Amino acid sequence: MAGLVAALGACSAMVHAADENRSLGSIAKESWGKTSDGESVDLYTLTNTQGMTMRVTNYGAIVVALTAPDRDGKFADVVLGYDHLDDYLKSSPYFGAVVGRYGNRIAAGRFTLDGKTYQLATNNAPGGVPCHLHGGNKGFDKVVWDAKGEMKDGAVGIRFHRVSPDGEEGYPGNLDITMHYWLTDQNEFRIEYAATTDRATPVNVTHHSYYNLGGHDSGTILDHELMIAADHITPVDKGLIPTGAFTPVAGTPFDFTSPTVIGSRVNADDTQLEYGLGYDHNFVLSRWDGKLRLAATVYDPQSGRQMEVLTTEPAIQFYCGNFLDGSNVGKGGHAYAYRTAIVLETQHYPDSPNHPDFPSTILRPGEEYRHTCVYRFSAR
Ligand code: BGC
Repeated sequence: MAGLVAALGACSAMVHAADENRSLGSIAKESWGKTSDGESVDLYTLTNTQGMTMRVTNYGAIVVALTAPDRDGKFADVVLGYDHLDDYLKSSPYFGAVVGRYGNRIAAGRFTLDGKTYQLATNNAPGGVPCHLHGGNKGFDKVVWDAKGEMKDGAVGIRFHRVSPDGEEGYPGNLDITMHYWLTDQNEFRIEYAATTDRATPVNVTHHSYYNLGGHDSGTILDHELMIAADHITPVDKGLIPTGAFTPVAGTPFDFTSPTVIGSRVNADDTQLEYGLGYDHNFVLSRWDGKLRLAATVYDPQSGRQMEVLTTEPAIQFYCGNFLDGSNVGKGGHAYAYRTAIVLETQHYPDSPNHPDFPSTILRPGEEYRHTCVYRFSAR
Protein backbone atom coordinates (compact mmCIF):
# COMPACT_ATOMS: atom_id res chain seq x y z
CA MET A 1 0.00 0.00 0.00
CA ALA A 2 2.86 2.39 0.74
CA GLY A 3 4.06 2.07 -2.87
CA LEU A 4 0.60 2.76 -4.13
CA VAL A 5 0.26 5.93 -2.09
CA ALA A 6 3.68 7.12 -3.24
CA ALA A 7 2.73 6.52 -6.86
CA LEU A 8 -0.33 8.69 -6.44
CA GLY A 9 1.78 11.71 -5.68
CA ALA A 10 3.83 11.30 -8.82
CA CYS A 11 1.53 10.38 -11.65
CA SER A 12 -1.89 11.14 -12.97
CA ALA A 13 -3.16 7.60 -12.93
CA MET A 14 -6.44 6.23 -11.77
CA VAL A 15 -5.90 3.87 -8.89
CA HIS A 16 -8.44 1.38 -7.71
CA ALA A 17 -7.37 -0.81 -4.88
CA ALA A 18 -8.98 -4.05 -3.89
CA ASP A 19 -7.58 -7.16 -2.30
CA GLU A 20 -9.03 -10.34 -0.90
CA ASN A 21 -9.79 -8.78 2.50
CA ARG A 22 -11.20 -5.40 1.70
CA SER A 23 -12.21 -3.14 -1.08
CA LEU A 24 -11.05 0.43 -1.03
CA GLY A 25 -12.19 3.46 -2.90
CA SER A 26 -10.19 5.17 -5.59
CA ILE A 27 -8.25 8.35 -6.22
CA ALA A 28 -7.65 9.92 -9.63
CA LYS A 29 -5.49 12.95 -10.29
CA GLU A 30 -5.54 15.27 -13.31
CA SER A 31 -4.01 18.63 -14.22
CA TRP A 32 -6.43 21.48 -13.73
CA GLY A 33 -4.56 24.46 -15.15
CA LYS A 34 -2.31 27.14 -13.73
CA THR A 35 -2.63 30.14 -11.42
CA SER A 36 -1.83 33.64 -12.74
CA ASP A 37 1.69 33.10 -11.28
CA GLY A 38 2.08 30.00 -13.44
CA GLU A 39 1.78 27.50 -10.61
CA SER A 40 0.35 24.14 -11.67
CA VAL A 41 -2.91 23.12 -10.09
CA ASP A 42 -4.34 19.60 -9.87
CA LEU A 43 -7.79 18.18 -9.42
CA TYR A 44 -8.32 14.96 -7.48
CA THR A 45 -11.40 12.76 -7.65
CA LEU A 46 -11.95 10.55 -4.62
CA THR A 47 -14.56 7.80 -4.65
CA ASN A 48 -15.55 5.73 -1.65
CA THR A 49 -16.97 2.20 -1.64
CA GLN A 50 -20.50 3.60 -1.36
CA GLY A 51 -20.20 5.51 -4.64
CA MET A 52 -19.83 8.94 -3.08
CA THR A 53 -17.35 11.16 -4.91
CA MET A 54 -15.44 14.24 -3.87
CA ARG A 55 -13.51 16.46 -6.28
CA VAL A 56 -10.80 18.47 -4.57
CA THR A 57 -8.15 20.80 -5.92
CA ASN A 58 -4.87 21.79 -4.32
CA TYR A 59 -5.69 25.46 -5.09
CA GLY A 60 -7.14 26.63 -1.76
CA ALA A 61 -7.71 22.96 -0.85
CA ILE A 62 -11.11 23.59 -2.40
CA VAL A 63 -13.83 20.96 -2.46
CA VAL A 64 -15.18 21.48 -5.96
CA ALA A 65 -17.89 18.80 -5.87
CA LEU A 66 -19.27 16.30 -3.35
CA THR A 67 -22.01 13.83 -4.14
CA ALA A 68 -24.36 12.27 -1.59
CA PRO A 69 -27.28 9.84 -1.99
CA ASP A 70 -30.91 10.78 -1.31
CA ARG A 71 -33.47 8.45 0.30
CA ASP A 72 -33.79 6.54 -3.00
CA GLY A 73 -30.03 6.20 -3.42
CA LYS A 74 -29.87 8.92 -6.08
CA PHE A 75 -26.68 10.98 -5.94
CA ALA A 76 -26.54 14.76 -6.25
CA ASP A 77 -23.69 17.23 -5.97
CA VAL A 78 -24.42 19.01 -2.66
CA VAL A 79 -21.80 21.79 -2.72
CA LEU A 80 -21.78 25.06 -4.63
CA GLY A 81 -18.75 25.72 -6.81
CA TYR A 82 -17.37 26.25 -10.28
CA ASP A 83 -16.52 23.96 -13.18
CA HIS A 84 -13.19 25.64 -13.95
CA LEU A 85 -10.12 26.84 -12.05
CA ASP A 86 -10.32 30.23 -13.81
CA ASP A 87 -13.66 30.95 -12.15
CA TYR A 88 -12.13 30.32 -8.71
CA LEU A 89 -9.18 32.55 -9.62
CA LYS A 90 -11.49 35.37 -10.74
CA SER A 91 -13.92 35.60 -7.85
CA SER A 92 -15.23 33.18 -5.29
CA PRO A 93 -16.98 33.80 -1.97
CA TYR A 94 -14.70 31.09 -0.46
CA PHE A 95 -16.68 28.27 -2.17
CA GLY A 96 -15.46 24.98 -0.64
CA ALA A 97 -12.13 26.41 0.51
CA VAL A 98 -10.00 26.23 3.61
CA VAL A 99 -9.97 29.64 5.27
CA GLY A 100 -7.16 30.94 7.45
CA ARG A 101 -4.77 31.79 9.01
CA TYR A 102 -7.68 33.29 10.93
CA GLY A 103 -11.09 32.23 9.61
CA ASN A 104 -13.88 34.72 10.33
CA ARG A 105 -13.35 38.36 11.40
CA ILE A 106 -10.80 40.37 13.39
CA ALA A 107 -11.95 43.88 14.33
CA ALA A 108 -10.19 46.58 12.27
CA GLY A 109 -7.68 43.84 11.33
CA ARG A 110 -5.74 44.64 14.46
CA PHE A 111 -4.66 42.74 17.57
CA THR A 112 -1.97 42.97 20.22
CA LEU A 113 0.05 39.91 21.16
CA ASP A 114 2.81 39.81 23.78
CA GLY A 115 2.91 43.62 23.77
CA LYS A 116 3.22 44.04 20.01
CA THR A 117 0.38 45.34 17.82
CA TYR A 118 -0.16 43.71 14.44
CA GLN A 119 -2.09 45.28 11.58
CA LEU A 120 -3.63 42.85 9.10
CA ALA A 121 -5.41 43.64 5.84
CA THR A 122 -8.94 44.98 6.16
CA ASN A 123 -10.50 43.16 3.23
CA ASN A 124 -14.16 43.32 4.28
CA ALA A 125 -16.53 46.01 5.55
CA PRO A 126 -19.99 44.79 6.56
CA GLY A 127 -22.18 47.71 7.65
CA GLY A 128 -19.43 49.99 6.32
CA VAL A 129 -17.03 48.94 9.10
CA PRO A 130 -13.65 47.63 7.85
CA CYS A 131 -12.39 44.34 9.29
CA HIS A 132 -10.09 41.44 8.47
CA LEU A 133 -11.95 38.43 7.02
CA HIS A 134 -10.85 34.84 6.41
CA GLY A 135 -7.10 35.47 6.41
CA GLY A 136 -6.90 38.64 4.32
CA ASN A 137 -6.28 39.46 0.67
CA LYS A 138 -4.49 36.22 -0.12
CA GLY A 139 -5.54 33.78 2.55
CA PHE A 140 -5.24 30.00 2.66
CA ASP A 141 -8.08 29.80 0.12
CA LYS A 142 -5.95 31.47 -2.59
CA VAL A 143 -2.67 29.55 -2.38
CA VAL A 144 -1.50 26.28 -3.90
CA TRP A 145 -0.99 23.53 -1.33
CA ASP A 146 1.32 20.54 -1.59
CA ALA A 147 -1.03 17.60 -2.01
CA LYS A 148 -0.70 13.85 -1.98
CA GLY A 149 -3.32 11.11 -2.33
CA GLU A 150 -3.67 8.76 0.61
CA MET A 151 -5.50 5.55 1.32
CA LYS A 152 -6.24 3.71 4.49
CA ASP A 153 -8.72 1.10 5.63
CA GLY A 154 -12.17 2.50 5.04
CA ALA A 155 -11.17 5.86 3.57
CA VAL A 156 -9.51 7.65 0.69
CA GLY A 157 -8.00 11.06 1.15
CA ILE A 158 -5.63 13.87 0.38
CA ARG A 159 -2.89 15.19 2.62
CA PHE A 160 -2.33 18.92 2.17
CA HIS A 161 0.72 20.68 3.54
CA ARG A 162 2.09 24.19 3.49
CA VAL A 163 4.29 26.52 5.50
CA SER A 164 2.63 29.92 5.78
CA PRO A 165 5.70 32.17 6.02
CA ASP A 166 6.37 34.65 8.83
CA GLY A 167 4.67 37.93 7.91
CA GLU A 168 2.26 36.40 5.38
CA GLU A 169 -0.79 38.65 5.33
CA GLY A 170 0.73 40.35 8.37
CA TYR A 171 0.66 37.34 10.72
CA PRO A 172 3.68 36.56 12.89
CA GLY A 173 5.59 33.28 12.70
CA ASN A 174 6.13 30.50 10.19
CA LEU A 175 3.04 28.33 10.50
CA ASP A 176 3.54 24.71 9.41
CA ILE A 177 0.13 23.31 8.63
CA THR A 178 -1.07 19.88 7.55
CA MET A 179 -4.63 18.98 6.65
CA HIS A 180 -6.02 15.56 5.85
CA TYR A 181 -9.27 15.39 3.93
CA TRP A 182 -10.84 11.93 4.16
CA LEU A 183 -13.82 10.52 2.31
CA THR A 184 -14.76 7.54 4.45
CA ASP A 185 -16.83 4.49 3.60
CA GLN A 186 -19.32 5.74 6.23
CA ASN A 187 -20.10 8.61 3.83
CA GLU A 188 -18.20 11.13 5.90
CA PHE A 189 -16.06 14.01 4.72
CA ARG A 190 -13.56 14.29 7.54
CA ILE A 191 -10.99 17.07 7.93
CA GLU A 192 -8.06 16.84 10.35
CA TYR A 193 -5.98 19.99 10.83
CA ALA A 194 -2.63 20.19 12.64
CA ALA A 195 -0.24 23.14 12.87
CA THR A 196 2.88 24.30 14.66
CA THR A 197 4.61 27.68 14.73
CA ASP A 198 7.98 29.22 15.55
CA ARG A 199 6.43 32.44 16.95
CA ALA A 200 3.19 33.09 18.81
CA THR A 201 0.36 33.66 16.34
CA PRO A 202 -3.43 33.50 16.20
CA VAL A 203 -4.74 30.42 14.37
CA ASN A 204 -8.35 29.67 13.51
CA VAL A 205 -8.59 27.53 10.39
CA THR A 206 -11.90 26.29 9.05
CA HIS A 207 -13.70 24.91 6.01
CA HIS A 208 -16.08 26.90 3.86
CA SER A 209 -18.23 24.56 1.76
CA TYR A 210 -21.63 25.93 0.81
CA TYR A 211 -24.02 22.98 1.19
CA ASN A 212 -27.40 22.54 -0.41
CA LEU A 213 -28.73 19.06 0.37
CA GLY A 214 -31.21 19.26 -2.48
CA GLY A 215 -28.29 19.63 -4.89
CA HIS A 216 -26.13 22.67 -5.63
CA ASP A 217 -28.57 23.91 -8.28
CA SER A 218 -31.84 23.17 -6.45
CA GLY A 219 -32.61 26.67 -5.13
CA THR A 220 -33.16 28.02 -1.65
CA ILE A 221 -32.18 26.19 1.55
CA LEU A 222 -34.88 27.92 3.58
CA ASP A 223 -36.85 24.65 3.72
CA HIS A 224 -33.93 22.72 5.25
CA GLU A 225 -34.25 21.82 8.94
CA LEU A 226 -31.36 22.69 11.19
CA MET A 227 -30.29 21.69 14.67
CA ILE A 228 -27.34 23.38 16.37
CA ALA A 229 -26.25 22.16 19.81
CA ALA A 230 -25.76 25.69 21.11
CA ASP A 231 -27.48 27.49 23.97
CA HIS A 232 -25.79 30.84 23.20
CA ILE A 233 -24.55 32.97 20.34
CA THR A 234 -21.91 35.67 20.49
CA PRO A 235 -23.98 38.66 19.29
CA VAL A 236 -22.35 41.08 16.87
CA ASP A 237 -22.34 44.80 16.17
CA LYS A 238 -23.22 46.17 12.73
CA GLY A 239 -19.68 45.34 11.55
CA LEU A 240 -20.35 41.66 12.42
CA ILE A 241 -17.78 41.78 15.23
CA PRO A 242 -18.71 40.10 18.55
CA THR A 243 -19.72 42.61 21.21
CA GLY A 244 -18.23 40.33 23.89
CA ALA A 245 -21.65 39.34 25.25
CA PHE A 246 -23.21 35.88 25.20
CA THR A 247 -26.91 35.84 24.31
CA PRO A 248 -29.06 32.85 25.26
CA VAL A 249 -30.84 31.50 22.17
CA ALA A 250 -33.98 30.52 24.12
CA GLY A 251 -36.97 32.50 22.94
CA THR A 252 -35.09 33.98 19.94
CA PRO A 253 -34.88 33.10 16.21
CA PHE A 254 -31.45 31.63 17.07
CA ASP A 255 -32.86 28.70 19.02
CA PHE A 256 -31.96 25.66 16.91
CA THR A 257 -31.54 23.36 19.89
CA SER A 258 -34.25 21.18 18.32
CA PRO A 259 -34.60 20.78 14.52
CA THR A 260 -36.23 23.90 13.04
CA VAL A 261 -36.95 24.98 9.47
CA ILE A 262 -34.34 27.64 8.60
CA GLY A 263 -36.81 29.89 6.81
CA SER A 264 -39.38 29.91 9.59
CA ARG A 265 -37.77 32.82 11.46
CA VAL A 266 -35.04 34.14 9.16
CA ASN A 267 -37.03 37.30 8.42
CA ALA A 268 -38.08 37.93 12.02
CA ASP A 269 -37.81 41.45 13.41
CA ASP A 270 -34.50 41.01 15.22
CA THR A 271 -31.47 43.31 15.33
CA GLN A 272 -28.99 40.42 15.01
CA LEU A 273 -30.74 39.14 11.88
CA GLU A 274 -30.78 42.67 10.55
CA TYR A 275 -27.00 43.04 11.02
CA GLY A 276 -26.26 39.65 9.44
CA LEU A 277 -28.88 40.10 6.68
CA GLY A 278 -30.11 36.80 8.07
CA TYR A 279 -28.15 34.11 9.89
CA ASP A 280 -24.42 34.82 9.94
CA HIS A 281 -23.49 34.15 13.55
CA ASN A 282 -21.17 32.28 15.85
CA PHE A 283 -22.99 29.62 17.86
CA VAL A 284 -21.27 28.63 21.10
CA LEU A 285 -21.42 24.87 21.41
CA SER A 286 -22.78 23.79 24.76
CA ARG A 287 -20.51 21.93 27.19
CA TRP A 288 -17.40 22.09 24.98
CA ASP A 289 -14.64 19.74 26.12
CA GLY A 290 -12.44 19.54 23.02
CA LYS A 291 -13.66 16.04 22.11
CA LEU A 292 -15.25 15.22 18.78
CA ARG A 293 -19.02 15.45 19.12
CA LEU A 294 -22.20 16.39 17.28
CA ALA A 295 -22.52 20.13 16.74
CA ALA A 296 -25.24 20.41 14.10
CA THR A 297 -27.61 18.44 11.88
CA VAL A 298 -29.11 19.65 8.61
CA TYR A 299 -31.98 17.79 6.94
CA ASP A 300 -33.62 18.34 3.57
CA PRO A 301 -37.20 16.98 3.75
CA GLN A 302 -37.51 16.89 -0.07
CA SER A 303 -34.58 14.60 -0.83
CA GLY A 304 -34.24 13.03 2.61
CA ARG A 305 -30.53 13.88 2.68
CA GLN A 306 -29.10 14.62 6.09
CA MET A 307 -25.74 16.04 7.08
CA GLU A 308 -24.40 15.86 10.61
CA VAL A 309 -21.51 18.08 11.62
CA LEU A 310 -19.12 16.92 14.33
CA THR A 311 -16.22 18.91 15.69
CA THR A 312 -13.61 19.28 18.39
CA GLU A 313 -13.95 23.10 18.18
CA PRO A 314 -15.90 25.27 20.66
CA ALA A 315 -18.17 26.99 18.13
CA ILE A 316 -19.74 26.93 14.72
CA GLN A 317 -20.52 29.79 12.34
CA PHE A 318 -23.89 29.36 10.68
CA TYR A 319 -24.07 31.45 7.50
CA CYS A 320 -26.94 30.95 5.07
CA GLY A 321 -25.68 32.63 1.92
CA ASN A 322 -27.10 36.10 2.62
CA PHE A 323 -24.42 37.65 0.40
CA LEU A 324 -25.17 35.41 -2.59
CA ASP A 325 -27.03 37.43 -5.21
CA GLY A 326 -26.93 35.43 -8.43
CA SER A 327 -23.71 37.02 -9.65
CA ASN A 328 -21.67 33.84 -9.08
CA VAL A 329 -22.44 31.62 -12.06
CA GLY A 330 -21.37 28.18 -11.00
CA LYS A 331 -21.32 24.57 -12.13
CA GLY A 332 -23.41 23.84 -15.18
CA GLY A 333 -24.02 27.57 -15.69
CA HIS A 334 -26.21 27.81 -12.59
CA ALA A 335 -26.38 31.26 -10.97
CA TYR A 336 -26.33 30.94 -7.18
CA ALA A 337 -29.05 33.16 -5.75
CA TYR A 338 -29.77 34.57 -2.29
CA ARG A 339 -29.84 31.97 0.50
CA THR A 340 -29.24 28.94 -1.68
CA ALA A 341 -26.65 27.36 0.61
CA ILE A 342 -25.75 26.78 4.21
CA VAL A 343 -22.19 27.14 5.47
CA LEU A 344 -21.32 25.54 8.80
CA GLU A 345 -17.81 26.53 9.85
CA THR A 346 -16.39 24.78 12.91
CA GLN A 347 -14.18 27.31 14.63
CA HIS A 348 -13.08 29.36 17.62
CA TYR A 349 -15.05 32.56 18.17
CA PRO A 350 -14.57 35.50 15.78
CA ASP A 351 -12.20 38.24 16.94
CA SER A 352 -10.85 36.09 19.78
CA PRO A 353 -7.41 37.82 19.76
CA ASN A 354 -9.24 40.94 21.03
CA HIS A 355 -11.32 39.10 23.65
CA PRO A 356 -9.16 37.67 26.43
CA ASP A 357 -12.20 35.95 27.96
CA PHE A 358 -12.92 33.92 24.79
CA PRO A 359 -11.17 30.53 24.41
CA SER A 360 -7.65 31.37 23.21
CA THR A 361 -6.66 31.14 19.55
CA ILE A 362 -2.99 31.85 20.22
CA LEU A 363 -0.60 29.09 19.18
CA ARG A 364 2.88 29.24 20.69
CA PRO A 365 6.13 27.47 19.76
CA GLY A 366 6.14 23.96 21.20
CA GLU A 367 2.35 23.69 21.08
CA GLU A 368 0.27 21.97 18.42
CA TYR A 369 -2.98 23.26 16.94
CA ARG A 370 -5.43 20.43 16.29
CA HIS A 371 -8.94 20.56 14.92
CA THR A 372 -11.17 17.82 13.55
CA CYS A 373 -14.39 18.38 11.65
CA VAL A 374 -16.67 15.73 10.17
CA TYR A 375 -19.54 16.27 7.72
CA ARG A 376 -21.47 12.97 7.81
CA PHE A 377 -24.07 12.20 5.14
CA SER A 378 -27.07 9.89 5.32
CA ALA A 379 -30.69 9.83 4.12
CA ARG A 380 -34.06 9.03 5.62
C1 BGC B 1 -19.05 34.85 6.83
C2 BGC B 1 -19.86 35.87 6.06
C3 BGC B 1 -19.08 36.23 4.82
C4 BGC B 1 -18.83 34.99 4.02
C5 BGC B 1 -18.00 35.33 2.82
C6 BGC B 1 -18.83 33.67 5.95
O1 BGC B 1 -18.02 32.75 6.61
O2 BGC B 1 -19.71 34.47 8.00
O3 BGC B 1 -20.09 37.01 6.83
O4 BGC B 1 -19.74 37.19 4.07
O5 BGC B 1 -18.15 34.05 4.78
O6 BGC B 1 -18.27 34.48 1.81
